[in-house]
Amino acid sequence: MIATVRKAARLEGEVSLPGDKSISHRALILGALAGGTSHLRGLSPGADVKSTAVCLRALGVHADASEVHGSGRNGLRAADGPLDCGNSGTTMRLLAGVLAAQDFPSELIGDASLSRRPMDRVVAPLREMGARADWPPLVVGGSVPLHGIEHRPTVPSAQVKSALLLAGLFARGTTAVVEATPTRNHTELMLAAMGANVSVEGERVEVKSSHLEPIDIDIPGDVSAASFWIVAGGLVTRSLLRVPGTGINPTRTAFVDLLRASGFNIAVTHGRSVAGEPVGDLEVAAAEELRPVSVSGAMSAAMIDELPVLAVAATQLPGTSLIGGAAELRVKESDRIAAMADGLASMGADITAVNDGWVINGPRHLEGARVRSHDDHRVAMALAVAGLIAEGVTEIEGAECVSISYPAFFDQLTALWRAGRG
Ligand code: S3P
Repeated sequence: MIATVRKAARLEGEVSLPGDKSISHRALILGALAGGTSHLRGLSPGADVKSTAVCLRALGVHADASEVHGSGRNGLRAADGPLDCGNSGTTMRLLAGVLAAQDFPSELIGDASLSRRPMDRVVAPLREMGARADWPPLVVGGSVPLHGIEHRPTVPSAQVKSALLLAGLFARGTTAVVEATPTRNHTELMLAAMGANVSVEGERVEVKSSHLEPIDIDIPGDVSAASFWIVAGGLVTRSLLRVPGTGINPTRTAFVDLLRASGFNIAVTHGRSVAGEPVGDLEVAAAEELRPVSVSGAMSAAMIDELPVLAVAATQLPGTSLIGGAAELRVKESDRIAAMADGLASMGADITAVNDGWVINGPRHLEGARVRSHDDHRVAMALAVAGLIAEGVTEIEGAECVSISYPAFFDQLTALWRAGRG
């Protein structure tokens, strides 16, 4: 599908975000291991979370968008064939942790993009725990029990941390993950909310063999999905966007803090807590005086999913923005460093791709162009935001991939564009 985006005079309205993708995966997986029925409201409607539900159903779990019937820690049964994780790295890595600890083997497969992504980062520590784990193809489980280890990841990854904590629920002794660079903590929070034997001290998370209680959860809106509206609302003149019910867990809001420091107008009101997760209502207005950004190291890791749209923002910031420390972007759903440099350069941006990020000089006048999503949802949405500020018409090839995390994205964009014109 080719999506057409025209320059917006102004954006106005309220956005209804999809449920947080990371929290949705965890609610389904942990719910499947609990003793009883978990109730979920606001689960992500994206294809990635559907992949997790499909895999769980193949493992004998009754799960839909609002309920998961867990049969306890021994409730999974071997699937009839390979488990298809689609495009979802979170599905593959988190389920690898759970399934490595089962007494039957499972094979996890995915689409062309997922099949290219690194899995050694989870396979190696799972083997250290005594699991049978091979890759490629990814085959785990059938040799139990596991034993706890202390793991110090060399690449910051919430997916790897979570995979090991999930395996640790079934292991003898203590499983600890000690992170040099902190990553999103949704697994730890949900494990605690479900009564697991989990503790967090500074950068160290520990889990012991546990039984899980079912959970009743309102899943917050996805702040990574909100990032597109934050940039769009900030860059399109005279805009005013409201984004209620956004998850504002501090492990996910480094991007909001950075844009504020760069001069964006972002207000958060009605702060509250839902199942241990902080939530607030966001209001974004057009920004006035802007400054360039400089991002590296732990800061990049803390906004890894927001970096494609940060590159779009940087094309409009006066001066040189340096976005580095993000080599991980090369092994996401696409090589996001190359994909964004390619798309934005063809729209007239002054952007240079480097090994671990970009150097971007702004502000530059962007011109609509025909660009490619590289079948990557975040690239498609980031380029759509660029289209809102570019002169003329931007066409995004392969735009259907937004359904991975945000099926309503283009409908909502059209509604805000029209309301701003009226
Ligand atoms: C996620 C963790 C991040 C992020 C991904 C979702 C999660 O990946 O990019 O979109 O839900 O744990 P890494 O942990 O591999 O960096």
